[in-house]
Amino acid sequence: MTNMEKTSVLVTGGNKGLGLETARRLGELGWTVFLGSRDEERGRAAADKLAAQGAHVVMVPLDVNSDASVAAALQLIRAHTDRLDVLVNNAGAPGHLVPPANATVEDIHPVFDTNVYGPIRVTHAFLPLLEAAENPRVVMVTSAGGSFSVVTDPEQPVSKMHELAYSTSKAALNMVTVRYAQALPKIKFNATTPGEVANRKFAATDMNNHTGALTVTEGTDSIVRLATLGPDGPTGTFTDRLGPVAW
Ligand SMILES: NC(=O)c1ccc[n+]([C@@H]2O[C@H](COP(=O)([O-])OP(=O)(O)OC[C@H]3O[C@@H](n4cnc5c(N)ncnc54)[C@H](OP(=O)(O)O)[C@@H]3O)[C@@H](O)[C@H]2O)c1
Repeated sequence: MTNMEKTSVLVTGGNKGLGLETARRLGELGWTVFLGSRDEERGRAAADKLAAQGAHVVMVPLDVNSDASVAAALQLIRAHTDRLDVLVNNAGAPGHLVPPANATVEDIHPVFDTNVYGPIRVTHAFLPLLEAAENPRVVMVTSAGGSFSVVTDPEQPVSKMHELAYSTSKAALNMVTVRYAQALPKIKFNATTPGEVANRKFAATDMNNHTGALTVTEGTDSIVRLATLGPDGPTGTFTDRLGPVAW
């Protein structure tokens, strides 16, 4: 068994982008990092890189779209620990920017599978391990595109980005976060978008072809803040690195 005196975290989609940076930063704090990756080779390469920097990392094959993969990930993590302090539901899919008039269920479904059902699959499976922790925290990595306030603000570029899959999936994820927070007060559930909504800034990653103005370190500031909340921290919130974001 891993030395579970340490704080433990599972990061989904931990092989690159914001997930990898979150894993790196939490590993730097001395935590045990379960690095989820749907592709074992990419996950192994990422985990080896963090381990070479001194982090305690366990690579966990994890496709959030698959019940079987989530069950296998739970089994693997259970071999190391009987509790999980933090879950970062980071894995996300952008979809294909299909205009609403052309979008079909076939376009929407895979995006919901990853961005909505994925976090539900993983959260549901890991609830017993989270409930066994002293101060369990779940971070939902959502998007400003899932905020009604942001999407209906004509000053925000996303108000002119016509698509149906990604924004609706992240709006659903926001509600999922609130409903978990209300029903499970022992666990902190908080949503965050990895940018600066007021400044229309997001983090440069593969998902946006590296067009973001923020670094992945800046993009993960709010993820790390929510992952490291103390017992008196909030639940059911939506923030970015600057502070509260309107739902
Ligand atoms: N970048 C931003 O400023 C920004 C803004 C708003 C929201 N977000 C959110 O931040 C999160 C991370 O995105 P990112 O910007 O870091 O993008 P990214 O570099 O493209 O990373 C996405 C990650 O999700 C993983 N993933 C996708 N589908 C998966 C599945 N079915 N199972 C497991 N992992 C899966 C990817 O794995 P593969 O490598 O195998 O594809 C990758 O590790 C996402 O939820 C995204 O919606 C980012």
